[in-house]
Amino acid sequence: MVSVKDWQELLTVGTENEHIKISGKEKKNGEWVFKRTVNGDSLERGYLSPREGNEVTGWDNALRLLDGSPLRSLHILKADPLIYPYLGKYMLTSKNIGEELLLAWSDKVFPGKNKDMVMAAKWLLGSDRAVILSGAGMSTESNIPDFRSSSGWWKQIDPRTVATVEALDSNYDLFQEFYATRMKALDQIEPHEGHRVLAKWEENNLVQLIGTQNVDGLHSAAGSLNVQELHGSIRSIRCHDCGKEGSIEAFTSHETCSRCGGRLRPAVVLFGEMLPQEAWETTLEAIEQAGLVIVIGTSMEVYPANQLPAMTSGKTVYINAETAETGAGFDLIIEGKAKKTLQNINELIEIGIRR
Ligand code: APR
Repeated sequence: MVSVKDWQELLTVGTENEHIKISGKEKKNGEWVFKRTVNGDSLERGYLSPREGNEVTGWDNALRLLDGSPLRSLHILKADPLIYPYLGKYMLTSKNIGEELLLAWSDKVFPGKNKDMVMAAKWLLGSDRAVILSGAGMSTESNIPDFRSSSGWWKQIDPRTVATVEALDSNYDLFQEFYATRMKALDQIEPHEGHRVLAKWEENNLVQLIGTQNVDGLHSAAGSLNVQELHGSIRSIRCHDCGKEGSIEAFTSHETCSRCGGRLRPAVVLFGEMLPQEAWETTLEAIEQAGLVIVIGTSMEVYPANQLPAMTSGKTVYINAETAETGAGFDLIIEGKAKKTLQNINELIEIGIRR
């Protein structure tokens, strides 16, 4: 049993000959005080502050005793589990800790966590403005089929027969039936925890904008504010002939435009149509300035949205259920389901932003 008076070795980093030791002891009032001791002449000289003596209180400050360390490698020699939660935060947020070190310590400090997710969390915490680009794979766990997976819409129906202006012109009934079916399904759908994680990241100023190819409105329904709908929305209706707004009820009950008697349609972008200019330009500008772009649940097959990740000078992460064919060109690829992957990364983010 360590008495309140004894200094306890909590973390030693470096090499046998040159290392820094962070020790701590609990005071009578339960508060912990910490000190750093260094051994190895170059270290002592390398440090601005003296060898010993400058004690700090507070666990997060304990790790800051490593800041400015002249050590070439912060290899863990010894770490007491007591310090792991704080070490985790330090590793995720400190610029002192590079990617190699993060991966070297990851198993110890984030046991069971996928290293790519640890890296993604570090990048997200380290980038002042991140942008999300999402696709239909973001909504399949809300029971909305995607398009090109084995259970996708385009496996059941040829998109040229329902999702083009030619289809609207040549077979309006099939066009109307296809979209009415998707609209009716909207009533039962809810955003999932993955959508809510992204909204939380926006709230914490980690995410600046979501550019989505999805027309289901689930990002906004989950609370995200800056959502750019690159392919429009299936939740609003207009007349294809005169542009007047209509209602979902009128469209699903096969009514015509109340002004010109024209054909009602959802405000989605059909193949061959231009993307909404403002949504496109706003998303493009954000991606060009982003430090990090996270692409979630898209096959990257549809132009021009599939060009966006290449437009950033920041880092790029791809989260998708299938990555074999589509993962090329990304800095980090995480193969997995959107909801679980975002929840796992968020657990790490919570460590990083914990007060
Ligand atoms: N988590 C992660 N990825 C998933 C999940 C999931 N739960 N479910 C499916 N995916 C992946 C699939 O493996 C697939 O690679 O999401 C991708 C979805 O790709 P598409 O079906 O091609 O959808 P998307 O890329 O959004 O399509 C772009 O095409 O049809 C048009 O206008 C439509 O906006 C759409 C555009």
